[in-house]
Amino acid sequence: MITHWCCGGLVRVTSTMLSLLRHASASRCYGGRRSIATVISGKQTSRLVRERLKKDVDQMKRSKVVPGLLVLQVGNREDSNLYISSKMKAAAEVGIDASHVRLPNTVTQDEVLRAIAAVNEDASVHGLIVQLPLDCVARVDVELLTDAVSPLKDVDGLSCINAGKLSRGDLSNCFIPCTPNGCMELIRQTGVPVAGKHAVVIGRSKIVGAPMHDLLLWNHATVTTCHSRTPDIAEQVGRADIVVVGAGQAEMVRGDWLKEGCVLVDCGINHVADASKPGGKRVVGDVHFASAYQRAGFITPVPGGVGPMTVAMLMQNTVLSAQRFLANAGRAL
Ligand code: GUN
Repeated sequence: MITHWCCGGLVRVTSTMLSLLRHASASRCYGGRRSIATVISGKQTSRLVRERLKKDVDQMKRSKVVPGLLVLQVGNREDSNLYISSKMKAAAEVGIDASHVRLPNTVTQDEVLRAIAAVNEDASVHGLIVQLPLDCVARVDVELLTDAVSPLKDVDGLSCINAGKLSRGDLSNCFIPCTPNGCMELIRQTGVPVAGKHAVVIGRSKIVGAPMHDLLLWNHATVTTCHSRTPDIAEQVGRADIVVVGAGQAEMVRGDWLKEGCVLVDCGINHVADASKPGGKRVVGDVHFASAYQRAGFITPVPGGVGPMTVAMLMQNTVLSAQRFLANAGRAL
């Protein structure tokens, strides 16, 4: 077992990572010493966030307000079921009153819209998310659904109102999407200031890449967003002090692309075949960990990096939403 100190505490490098590292470290030495990254643990950082939120929730409960979260699922995707169960577990730990509503995959768009409208009206729910991707037979406009969620309860930050506020830098008056928000927390853990740095984001999805660009920009980085039509992604990455990858391509970013000492955040979750694993597959990120570990200054692991932070940030947004409702109720009195 290898351990490293980072701002959040000791980080364990797993045996799978270790065998990858042994393989990679043979090729890169500096004066007899390996140049290796500090692993930023999302598991530890998310635990600290949940502990802080639990205290906030206990405080709110004294005012007789319990933050409420509702996760609306359409259909029964196995991966969504797993993500939702980790959200439910985190909510229970923090003291959030969370419910999971699963609609059958035969629902129509109107039925989903009616379900969303009902939750918008329910004063006990402060946060509502529509779990994506949808699993339904009928053709449904996902944008229409995410926009139907009240912007005041849109703890995913996916509505046009919240996305628009974020793109204009109105960060304190919107909900920031959970994955980019978690990435920013992990970047903060490194102690590397974002202001004035050159950041590269790979991917421009509404849930990760686009809001990540906005968040880095309004934290005063100079940001380049790369995507499937960018002809020179490796060169762009090579100039970056901070790299956030949400490309959805297993192990796409290689160590030799990176600027020495950069901060590297991996949002990828990909399943690749591995006969040595019980299910015949293992999870890898969008970064080729073994080679990147040799070159980056800081790196997030997969699993155990961005994933737990996404869940923690959903809890944070839900508590924030309840606090805003409470503050507004006080103003109305
Ligand atoms: N599916 C995977 N990640 C997410 C997320 O952060 N929010 C929603 N709504 N669906 C997801």
